[in-house]
Amino acid sequence: MERTEKLVLLFSSGLLGVFFLALLAAAELQGINVPPCLPATVYPFNEARHDTLPDGRHQIFYVARMWRFEPEVVEVPLNTPIDLFLSAADVTHGFYLSWTNTNLMAIPGLVNAYTLRLEKPGVYPIICHEYCGTAHHNMVAYLVAK
Ligand code: CUA
Repeated sequence: MERTEKLVLLFSSGLLGVFFLALLAAAELQGINVPPCLPATVYPFNEARHDTLPDGRHQIFYVARMWRFEPEVVEVPLNTPIDLFLSAADVTHGFYLSWTNTNLMAIPGLVNAYTLRLEKPGVYPIICHEYCGTAHHNMVAYLVAK
């Protein structure tokens, strides 16, 4: 290897090191961190819930975890606003409400929210559409609209 090649390799390796250190310094100075998993103590995600508000509105707090959605079966009335709140307890999961355009991601440390209304009665399967481990294909829950 020629002397010039060695110098170029040394210089580019050193430059990569400088960039990496600058990245770490910037993340540290600005307080940027990888989102942590949702702690089991965060209300209301410490337990999956289904609430009916005084005005009739429904709120469902879903927790996705390997390999189920909690709550697993929820009954809701037709033509009523349903607020979905979704998070994950372990890894990233998907949340697709069959026969609707409700398609969310369940991401550890984050809460996704969406409001929908169901106009047709039926059993709507909720399917995980993000590969999340060996039993991913069994991850299903049901929203029953009556
Ligand atoms: Cu959860 Cu795939």
